[in-house]
Amino acid sequence: MKTQPDWQWNEFQHIGADFSDLDEVEDYDRKHGQFRDVAAENRQILELLNLPKGVRVLDIGAGTGHFVRAAARAGLRPTAVDISTTMLGYARREAEKEGLNEIDYTHAGFLSFDFPEETFDAALTSAALHHLPDVWKAVALSNICRVLKPGGQFVLRDVVFGWGEEGHVIYCDKAIASLPKEMRSRMASHIAREYSTLNWIMEGLLERAGFTILSAEKPLSYFQVYHCRKD
Ligand SMILES: C[S@@+](CC[C@H](N)C(=O)[O-])C[C@H]1O[C@@H](n2cnc3c(N)ncnc32)[C@H](O)[C@@H]1O
Repeated sequence: MKTQPDWQWNEFQHIGADFSDLDEVEDYDRKHGQFRDVAAENRQILELLNLPKGVRVLDIGAGTGHFVRAAARAGLRPTAVDISTTMLGYARREAEKEGLNEIDYTHAGFLSFDFPEETFDAALTSAALHHLPDVWKAVALSNICRVLKPGGQFVLRDVVFGWGEEGHVIYCDKAIASLPKEMRSRMASHIAREYSTLNWIMEGLLERAGFTILSAEKPLSYFQVYHCRKD
């Protein structure tokens, strides 16, 4: 990991849940398993990427490691990056239970990973980029673009807002109400304290970083899946 200048955003501070705490990590996996179909998400990502076996794929903010395990099962060579050593340890433990030993784990973040240029054929980040304010999202996206091979693919899945004429109040209330009761206060706190941004800002950031957006899907009113290619 590179030494960081003192003006750089400290991406190792905890924004939202404290993922250095193992109880929090286990709780995250359990709760997300209840309201998300993580296996179906990963199938969709792998179908979208449609990569040949043996190529390298990067997952930044890999969390409990569901995607890197799915990628390894599909014959890809995944690298999991996360600022939380607890998350990485959990992901490694789950992979080892399945005998998936070909996954690389790197303790770093969007701003601090320093793989050589053009290392990866594809990259994913799911529900993690919102931990950075917009200026630093721009830096993160350039860093991802840098480590992708020319024509490399990038999938960005995250909470991204898209209110229209209804305005932000009705939009946020509806987003919260659409979730199971036990997730609502977590969503309210996400909106209030984390850095999810608007769709038109995210799309500008992606294009400025050097990506062409191939498709933009909206599985939920507050969630976007962007499939991009490095120009
Ligand atoms: C909400 S979890 C998402 C985990 C997983 N990708 C998923 O889809 O379930 C966010 C993850 O991003 C990590 N994270 C937060 N800030 C980060 C950063 N600057 N760089 C890399 N990972 C970060 C957290 O430690 C956590 O594991």
